[in-house]
Amino acid sequence: MSATPYDLAVSRFADFQTDIYAQGAAGVVPSLPLTFDGLMAAAEEVMDPRTFGYVAGSAGTGATNAANRDAFSGFEIVPRHLRGVADRDLQVDLLAKPQPTPLLLAPIGALGTVFPNAELEVARVASALGVPMVLSTLANHPLEHVAAALHESQGGTGWFQLYWPNDNEVALSLVHRAEQAGYEALVVTLDTWTLAWRPVDLAHGYLPFLNGAGLANYLSDPVFRARLKESPEEHPEAAVALWTTMFNNPGLRARDLAWLKKNSKLPVIAKGVCHPDDARIALAAGLDGIIVSNHGGRQIDGARAALNCLADVVEASGDMPVLFDSGIRTGSDILKALALGARAVLIGRPYVFGLALGGGAGVGHVLRCLLAELDLTLGLSGHAAIAELGPESLVRAGLGSCRVGTG
Ligand code: FNR
Repeated sequence: MSATPYDLAVSRFADFQTDIYAQGAAGVVPSLPLTFDGLMAAAEEVMDPRTFGYVAGSAGTGATNAANRDAFSGFEIVPRHLRGVADRDLQVDLLAKPQPTPLLLAPIGALGTVFPNAELEVARVASALGVPMVLSTLANHPLEHVAAALHESQGGTGWFQLYWPNDNEVALSLVHRAEQAGYEALVVTLDTWTLAWRPVDLAHGYLPFLNGAGLANYLSDPVFRARLKESPEEHPEAAVALWTTMFNNPGLRARDLAWLKKNSKLPVIAKGVCHPDDARIALAAGLDGIIVSNHGGRQIDGARAALNCLADVVEASGDMPVLFDSGIRTGSDILKALALGARAVLIGRPYVFGLALGGGAGVGHVLRCLLAELDLTLGLSGHAAIAELGPESLVRAGLGSCRVGTG
């Protein structure tokens, strides 16, 4: 059979689009929605209302979550043409390792309430697609089991996200377990030393962890277990009660970051940085990267959109790589964040809704959609590689002329 024009013109991520049209010509249309709004609406139909509320919900009125989305409209892509973009390269270097794409899966707590064996499903599909997975501390499977799923066949990349408990011995035990299990970085989340005011969850009186969801890393931890009179198997309520005394950690200070860095063999990345001065603190502590994020608008109502924080934080971070999350819904959103200086981006809710709809296959669908759209948008805007993106790829929305840069 002769090659179609598409075979000659597109790179492999965009092939997902070709496949969908080819199947459509044979009468088969995609079984899962193609847009974030479609995914969310379909997920709401199948999810327990409390679980849906926990995933979709935000802090307070939801203003920060809305601002995260609006911020993307504040930047516009100015396409360039005739630049020879037949072969496109989505690779990026992360922590001195090449990754096939600039996409990572954000840490999501209590994922097991969304789908059975969720973290294992996510680990397998992430590894098959070459997308690193950041495993939450608040997982339903011990980090060792998830690492085994990640490394089962293709040898996927896993990073471990640390919610730093107020018991440093437990914190170190989690860190050392992550090192032992083969995680390649530690992501310490700074913006959630306690949970914010979240009216949707409050209306449901619902916090999944109090039902034991998401606590597997604590319940399997030898130091945590040693704090209990009876084992979690014998007395689960006491284990949950201990966790509630340990999770909140308002006393953390800048000097603690250097302590964590000193006590970990892994690269340490701070998540939740929005202010350039906090980036400077991370830099001074010798950290290996930061993630600009406002936790998807889940921690402070009325906070600045994460995307609007990005350029200043990048500037303050010197050579330290800056990653980004909060509000990414499309391939074009990814392109904008990368153009503003993010080395890579993490996605949260989109993949969780994919998981709710189709398990690991649903996550794979969401990732393929995002990567195909990124690949196409990259090429259509005149870039052959992620490395070619920069502030000059965008203008501020509403400017009368095609002035380059972020304005
Ligand atoms: C999160 N997030 C999060 N972050 C983290 O560091 N550890 C965690 O356990 C969780 N748990 C969690 C649960 C749920 C249901 C959501 C939606 C989010 C925040 C997450 O990693 C990421 O920062 C945001 O999800 C990014 O925003 P979007 O993509 O959801 O808009």
